[in-house]
Amino acid sequence: MERGKLIVFEGADGSGKSSHAKRVVERIKNWMKETGKPGDCVYHREPFEDLVGATIRASLSGQVRLDPDAAAYLHVASRIEHIREMERQLAAGNYVVCDRFYLSNMAYNQTEHLDMKAIYELNKICRQLIEPDLILYLDVTLEEAKFRRKKDGSRVQAELYDADEVQRKVLNRYREIVAFLQEQGVRVSTVDAMGPREEVHARIWEQVLPVLEDRS
Ligand SMILES: Nc1ncnc2c1ncn2[C@@H]1O[C@H](COP(=O)(O)OP(=O)(O)OP(=O)(O)O)[C@@H](O)[C@H]1O
Ligand SMILES: [Mg+2]
Repeated sequence: MERGKLIVFEGADGSGKSSHAKRVVERIKNWMKETGKPGDCVYHREPFEDLVGATIRASLSGQVRLDPDAAAYLHVASRIEHIREMERQLAAGNYVVCDRFYLSNMAYNQTEHLDMKAIYELNKICRQLIEPDLILYLDVTLEEAKFRRKKDGSRVQAELYDADEVQRKVLNRYREIVAFLQEQGVRVSTVDAMGPREEVHARIWEQVLPVLEDRS
C-alpha cells in the first residue's frame, strides 16, 4: 500500500483555512479518481476530537478556564493523539488535509514563560512522529481576516482570541514562525490568500499538485 500524504493549512483566524482545506479535499478526491489511486482523502482539524481536545475547545469558548502555560502543553498532548490517528490514515493509503497544526500552537499559546522557540521545542515529539508533506500558510491582511471572520459564525476560536490586538499579534507571529521554520528546513510555504476564492484556490492547488505527484 502506497502511503498517503499530509497537507496542512495554517493561518490567522478568518484567513480561509477551513473553506480552502475542504475544497482541496474535494479536489484531491477527484484527482485520486482520475489517476486511479485507491483510498480516500479526509479532512481533519485541530484541536482534535479527543478528551484533551474537548477541554481545549471548552476553554476557547470560555466555558472553562485553563492556565495559559498548561494550555500550551495540552495542545501538544492532544496533537499526539491526533498524529496517531493521522498516521493510521496515511498508512492505509489515505490522504489527509489538516486544518491547523503545531504552527497554531506556536502562534496562539505563547506566554511569558513560553516563547515561539520554546513551543517549537515542545512540539519536537510531534515532528518526530510525523512530517507534513506540505504546510501552506494562508497570508491575509489583518483587515481582510477581520472582514472574513464576520462572515463565518462557526469559528471555534471566536471568543478567546477575538480582540483586535490579539489578532495583530497572531498575524505577526505567523509570519515570524514561517520564516523561522523555513530556516529549519520545514516544508512550509506562504500562499497569498488575498483576492477572490477561485484565485486563492488556484494558487493553493499549484502548490499541492506537485506534492501529490511527487515532483515537489
Ligand atoms: N478568498 C476569499 N475571499 C472571500 N472570502 C473568503 C475567501 N476565502 C474564504 N472566505 C470566507 O471567509 C470566511 C472565513 O473563512 P474560513 O472559515 O475558511 O477561515 P478560517 O481560517 O478557517 O477561520 P478560523 O481560523 O476562524 O476557523 C468564510 O465565510 C469563507 O467562506
Ligand atoms: Mg476554520
